[in-house]
Amino acid sequence: MIERGHVPVLLNEVLEHLDSAREGTYIDGTIGLAGHAVEILKRNPRAALIGLDVDELALDRVKETLKPYADRVRLYQADFRYLPDLDFDFSEVRGLLLDLGLSSFQLDSPERGFSFNQEGPLDMRMDLRNKTTAFKIVDSYSEPKLAHLFQEYGELRQAKRLAREIVARRKVRKFETTVDLRQVIEQVCHWIPQKGKVHPAAKVFQALRIEVNQELRGLGEFLETMAARVPAGARFVVISFHSLEDRIVKRTFARLGGGAEAPALMRLLTRKPVRPTDEEIIANSRSKPAKLRAAEKI
Ligand SMILES: C[S@@+](CC[C@H](N)C(=O)[O-])C[C@H]1O[C@@H](n2cnc3c(N)ncnc32)[C@H](O)[C@@H]1O
Repeated sequence: MIERGHVPVLLNEVLEHLDSAREGTYIDGTIGLAGHAVEILKRNPRAALIGLDVDELALDRVKETLKPYADRVRLYQADFRYLPDLDFDFSEVRGLLLDLGLSSFQLDSPERGFSFNQEGPLDMRMDLRNKTTAFKIVDSYSEPKLAHLFQEYGELRQAKRLAREIVARRKVRKFETTVDLRQVIEQVCHWIPQKGKVHPAAKVFQALRIEVNQELRGLGEFLETMAARVPAGARFVVISFHSLEDRIVKRTFARLGGGAEAPALMRLLTRKPVRPTDEEIIANSRSKPAKLRAAEKI
């Protein structure tokens, strides 16, 4: 059963691009609450699944969700970027799915500190073994380093001003909670809610989350390494939720598609990213920024 309230993004598009009716092994590198994984297993009795997630709390739930399929499932608390280092036989792999970013379970848990709408500690770790929290960054990074972070990963126009204000204020009182931080962002950015306008805290929280979890590090290299390991016909499907990630996926797939530097290892299945339909966005507004790209090993 899919977790109540959990809606996997672009479900049919994922299954179609993975071609998940084929017999063999499917890797879900970001299993989350297993929304996609359970559908692969349910619809295809000849599918085996390797599921990874850095979040042990998510994996505890996944174990329950996937109990009916336990004999076909292997779960690991691991960063997918280390998958090539693990002692796996990839010869039976038919598909690899990465549904990047946060699960609704993480976003909706105030104690994880991902949401600026709910009061919680400034944490933002997907992997609770990670020593770096958002608090540590906000409390210790220099002003130029914070400004760079907000600019690069949040594309925040007022990045320098916000960094200056944070550094000045933290000398007086530390930013302990999501609300402490949201308040200074709203003041610096003169935030007035307007329909269709992105809250500046969304940009800052995104930047901090990317930094805490090092979300962009090694993504392209991972796809390239895996492309060399999997057999012909294996499909990669990646869903990203912000342009920085999508750019990496797009460029990596383009490189794998061949060019002047190297022969093609993969063929692109999506010239343009697949986006959620209007119906899906109405049913699940969190799906709105999703972009799916897919490629097949040749
Ligand atoms: C968007 S959710 C996946 C949702 C899932 N497809 C579903 O339908 O339930 C992303 C998940 O990936 C995990 N994650 C993010 N980066 C990861 C990484 N580098 N390695 C392993 N898991 C990661 C997060 O902890 C989160 O649970």
